[in-house]
Amino acid sequence: MSTAIEVVDVSKRFRMYKERNQSLKASLMRGRRAKYDEFWALRDVGFEIPEGSTYGLIGENGSGKSTLLKCLARILVPDTGSVRVNGSIAALLELGSGFHPELTGRENVYLNGSILGLGKKEIESRFDEIVDFAGIEQFIDQPVKNYSSGMYVRLGFSVAINVDPDILLVDEVLAVGDAAFQAKCMEKFADFRAAGKTVVLVSHAMGTMRTMCDHVAWLDHGKLVGAGPATELVDDYIDKTHADRPVEESGHESGRHGSGEITVERVELLDGTDEAVSSFRTGEALTIRVHYRAHETVERPVFGLAVETIEGTYVWAYHTRDGGMDIPSVAGDGFIDCTVPRLPLQPGTFDVTASAVDWTTQHTYDLRRHLSRFDVEAGEPRESGGIVAMGATWSPIKGDA
Ligand SMILES: Nc1ncnc2c1ncn2[C@@H]1O[C@H](COP(=O)(O)OP(=O)(O)OP(=O)(O)O)[C@@H](O)[C@H]1O
Ligand SMILES: [Mg+2]
Repeated sequence: MSTAIEVVDVSKRFRMYKERNQSLKASLMRGRRAKYDEFWALRDVGFEIPEGSTYGLIGENGSGKSTLLKCLARILVPDTGSVRVNGSIAALLELGSGFHPELTGRENVYLNGSILGLGKKEIESRFDEIVDFAGIEQFIDQPVKNYSSGMYVRLGFSVAINVDPDILLVDEVLAVGDAAFQAKCMEKFADFRAAGKTVVLVSHAMGTMRTMCDHVAWLDHGKLVGAGPATELVDDYIDKTHADRPVEESGHESGRHGSGEITVERVELLDGTDEAVSSFRTGEALTIRVHYRAHETVERPVFGLAVETIEGTYVWAYHTRDGGMDIPSVAGDGFIDCTVPRLPLQPGTFDVTASAVDWTTQHTYDLRRHLSRFDVEAGEPRESGGIVAMGATWSPIKGDA
């Protein structure tokens, strides 16, 4: 198989200047010698990206992923080592990079397209498709400084894919788009891959990385921890990073509403031994405990739970009425458990929404979105990708060997 990008012993050093806030006079007095610390954002990183693969870069904040992408895009020059690229590159890096804020969307499409190597005629012929994919027709003649971050990304991504590069580099930014746009982008990646093109992706959404990428490279403090099959490395990465996440930090509430007769106080996630934990393995028991407070006597309440991936895909919901429970009434404090005997989720991060509603489910007492978060690490069954672990089996080939 041929190689799209070869990264050979790449190191990148940044200078961190001290005494930044000193006056101009003080810095002039000090003379030409500015004081700085040297800092290696990348250190001897080497791996190969096969042509036609979807390749991921993973690692914690500050581990060097964006710096490496910029080296691949030739926006930064490595201090040692080299990057060999076979084919044309389009990059979607930091939000709005490559866009001129004062120019309109239309002008930026032309500017960006020409930077990415298209002639005026070529851009003209693709212009409608670019604007159409971005879905921002109404705003195309507005200066992009007035765009929302989602609009920026839509237009940037649309230009990048429509210049039809051999290699597409995408740094995180897609997370800014809404669910519909993200789905459109995923389709585009699939088309891209089907056409034998190479995609290099950076994302903290591990479920996506595990599913979308063939291979990943894992960076830690600028050094390569490993490069290899996405499933294995992402699972190792999730295991390592989740091992030290405290249980208390697992709440990321993103919205709350309701009339308040019953309030959902908190949600606990318990393992098979009733221990509160924030990480489970595929196939393990999980109990979601909803602690409530009924501020008055409420008849026939219904408690509900929902689970989404952190990328926002709706995975599951279940409420007590559908579970065949008719709770006559509640008053004061209490809790209710919902038990999943064998967690059928593949590795990734999931958000739990909890609610208390009335018997018709049309009136909400309290709904707390993403009140709790949990991680899933590789367990049994161990399947290759996606959200659910279906426990599927392969049977032997029927046919001639
Ligand atoms: N231009 C720069 N000057 C100085 N330091 C920089 C520069 N660009 C990046 N760094 C530093 O290099 C390190 C790696 O940064 P980088 O942006 O590559 O990390 P990252 O893996 O993309 O992180 P994140 O997940 O937060 O996006 C960080 O410590 C960052 O502060
Ligand atoms: Mg980054």
